[in-house]
Amino acid sequence: MQIIDGKAVSAAVKDRVKAECDTLKAKGVVPGLAVIIVGDDPASQVYVRNKERACEECGFYSKKYALPADTTQQELNNLVMQLNADPKINGILCQLPLPSHLDDKEVINLIDPIKDVDAFHPVNVGAIMIGDYNFLPCTPAGVMELIHSTGIDVGGKKAVVMGRSNIVGKPMAMLLLHENATVEITHSRTQNLADITSQADILVAAIGKAKFVTADMVKQGAVVIDVGMNRDGDGKLCGDVDYDSVKDKCSYITPVPGGVGPMTIAMLMQNTLTAAKIQNNIG
Ligand code: GUN
Repeated sequence: MQIIDGKAVSAAVKDRVKAECDTLKAKGVVPGLAVIIVGDDPASQVYVRNKERACEECGFYSKKYALPADTTQQELNNLVMQLNADPKINGILCQLPLPSHLDDKEVINLIDPIKDVDAFHPVNVGAIMIGDYNFLPCTPAGVMELIHSTGIDVGGKKAVVMGRSNIVGKPMAMLLLHENATVEITHSRTQNLADITSQADILVAAIGKAKFVTADMVKQGAVVIDVGMNRDGDGKLCGDVDYDSVKDKCSYITPVPGGVGPMTIAMLMQNTLTAAKIQNNIG
């Protein structure tokens, strides 16, 4: 079994982005990312800090908009519209989840699709569906990079995606399909789950249940990608996969932390760079 090192793969992506950023800067273009965070959810604060740090590493301009928990929908919408019109800002990211009185769909729909570096806007979601896109959603794109880093050809392989969220499961299945995998999606109503997952050459777990995937659910020699970010009984960070039981059965596995997590941020940097290039007509 080999561990897929998300830190190393993400560092390589960021190095590539930084090199391209330097080229853009020589042409007078500095990629800019605006990150909006509403309220004081501690996990979101950590994610936002990491995104700002990655911007610094890549040489981007970044600006954080930390709004109080009682921000109104209109105030949030006004900020998004202001950022849509700001030429220094190429990418806009509104950290989710929002406080419950705010409508995330309304915000996502308001972000100019060309600045939507999360690829959550319906225009970008539709573009992914038909395989003609500017941005890929960050987490599924990061998973594809991790799979590519193994050197395994996805074409013709049986891939099973556990979870059907709009952010991970559904677009993940689409990206695997684009690379000619035979894809199945499982979810909370799936029957005979272990029968399905144990046929997977590539198994992607994105269900948000600590250590749910055990060795009996995994095919010998499978590539196992763990998108989960949970706390176990002792409060320790863990994935959706029971790493200790699965690791001896698979060919490759991603750890938590240090697997998919760092990739999501690296792909956000990639999307921000793409956005800057498109908005400045640089091919
Ligand atoms: N919250 C958890 N994951 C994400 C993400 O990828 N983007 C945003 N905007 N919020 C998130």
